[in-house]
Amino acid sequence: MGDETVIIRSVLAMNEDTPAAGITRMPFGALPDGRDVDLYLLTNDNGMRASITGYGGIVTSLTAADRRGESADVVLGFDDLGAYLEGHPYFGAIIGRYGNRIANGTFELGRTTFTLAQNNNNNHLHGGAIGFDKALWSAQPQSVPEGPQLRLTHVSADGKEGYPGRLDLTVDYTLTHDNELRVDYRATTDDPTHVNLTNHSYFNLAGPGGGDILSHEVLINADHFTPVDEGLIPTGEIRSVEGTPMDFREPATIGARIDTDDEQLRFGSGYDHNFVLNRVDRELSLAARVIEPTTGRVMEVLTSEPGVQFYTANFLDGRLTGKGGTAYGRRCALCLETQHFPDSPNKPEFPTTVLRPGEVYESTTVYRFSAI
Ligand code: BGC
Repeated sequence: MGDETVIIRSVLAMNEDTPAAGITRMPFGALPDGRDVDLYLLTNDNGMRASITGYGGIVTSLTAADRRGESADVVLGFDDLGAYLEGHPYFGAIIGRYGNRIANGTFELGRTTFTLAQNNNNNHLHGGAIGFDKALWSAQPQSVPEGPQLRLTHVSADGKEGYPGRLDLTVDYTLTHDNELRVDYRATTDDPTHVNLTNHSYFNLAGPGGGDILSHEVLINADHFTPVDEGLIPTGEIRSVEGTPMDFREPATIGARIDTDDEQLRFGSGYDHNFVLNRVDRELSLAARVIEPTTGRVMEVLTSEPGVQFYTANFLDGRLTGKGGTAYGRRCALCLETQHFPDSPNKPEFPTTVLRPGEVYESTTVYRFSAI
C-alpha cells in the first residue's frame, strides 16, 4: 500500500469512534529556525493509538484499554510543540547517541581521548546538550503487515556533542495489531564510536491525572543490578538484588520499599538504576511487567538489550504542566529505558557499546499492552 493511501484512509478515520487502522500526518508547529514539525497518528486494528512527532522522535501520546475496554493515554507529555521546545526531562523521546551517563563526559577509543558535552553536573547524560531528543528526524509513514509504522531517519554528524564518527540512524515505530508499540533501532558509522539508544517514555497506566505510580506493581526480570555512586555513575560492581529493595523478581508495588533507608535509593532519590536482565532469548526477552491494579492495565517490556533503567520520576516536582493542564508531580510516572549499561565506554567489564565501520547496531524493544 502506498504512503498516500495510508494517509488518506486514516484522515477519514480520525474523528470516528471506531477508527480504522492507519497513519495520518498533521502539522505540529515549527522550530525557531522555521522548519515545520509534523505529528503522526498511528491507529491499529483495535483502535489503539500512538502519536509521534519527528521532533526528537517523541511519543506524545499512547492509548491503552483498561479491563472494561476504556482507553486512556498512558504517557506523559505536552499538548503542543512549544512546551516541548521550552525544555523537559526527555518525555517520550529517542535518546542518543548514548542513553544515560558517561562519567566526566569523557572516554578513550583507540588511542584518542574524546570529550563530550557535560550536561549533568560534570557527567554526560542522554547524548549531551543537543541529543537525538532535540533533533528533527525525517519521517516516513508506512504500512507493514504488523500495523502502521513510522520510519524516522537522522544523520548525526562527526563530532556532534563530541562523539567521533558520522552516525546514520533509522528508528521504526510500529503500532502492532497485537497492541504493542515496537521500536526497532538501527545505526551505522564511518568511524568507531559509542552507541546506546533508547526511548524515554514516562508511563502512568492509571491514565491522565492518575497521581503517583507508587501502587503500580512491577516485576523486573533481573537477578542483578549495577550499583551507582552519588553522581549516579555505576561503580562497576554487578550486585545481586537478593535481600535488597531492588529485588523485583516477584511482583512488588513500587511504593512498598522506595523510601527504605538504603544507600542506593538515597543516591537515586528513589529508583534510578540499571538492572542486568536475565536473558533467555538474545533477540527479545521479557525485561519487565507493570500492572496498575485499579484499571487492570498491564504493560510488558521486551527487549534485545542487556539492561533496563528503572526510573521513578524522582526529579519531577509539579512545576511542569503537561497535557490537559495536569501538573507532573514527584513519582507520577515510571520509565523503563532499555539499554546497555551506563558508563560502558569507561567500564571494559560491561557489554561493549562500541560500533565500528562495517557493523550494524540493531536493537529492538516492545511495549505490549493488555488488561487483567
Ligand atoms: C536518568 C535519571 C534522569 C532522567 C531524566 C533517567 O534516565 O537515569 O537520572 O533524571 O533520566 O533525565
